[in-house]
Amino acid sequence: MRKWLVLTSFSMLAAGAALAADAGAGKAVYDRACKSCHGADGTANPAVAKMMKVEIKDLKSHDVQSMSDADLKKIVTEGKGKMRPVTSVTGNQVDDVVAYVKTLK
Ligand code: HEC
Repeated sequence: MRKWLVLTSFSMLAAGAALAADAGAGKAVYDRACKSCHGADGTANPAVAKMMKVEIKDLKSHDVQSMSDADLKKIVTEGKGKMRPVTSVTGNQVDDVVAYVKTLK
């Protein structure tokens, strides 16, 4: 009985951890799906900005950091202006990458 209780609380903890956004996992997503345009630390790649003929805001800037998680998620999944939706990032990865972007400031 006692053993069963311990096991249950363990699996509940694991489930909780899986639900919460994970900025550490988000870094891997960012490096794979965002870094080429937004740079390693959120400072946009100037060559990409020039090529796309658009000013890309620094992800560390107040403008971006003050956006809600929901707004940021929407930009990733639906795109914004000249940024196309990032279709290779789905499900939990969206939450994780948004959590990581919030650590860039
Ligand atoms: C192919 C290049 C490219 C990739 C890949 C890319 N972006 Fe972007 N992103 C852009 C461009 C260009 C803009 C500016 C869009 C505009 O203002 O027209 C932008 C804008 C943004 C903005 C909004 C800034 C503002 O002006 O409001 C956020 C936030 C953002 N990107 C996050 C991400 C994240 C997170 C990822 C990875 C999941 C990502 N981007 C992947 C090119 C890219």
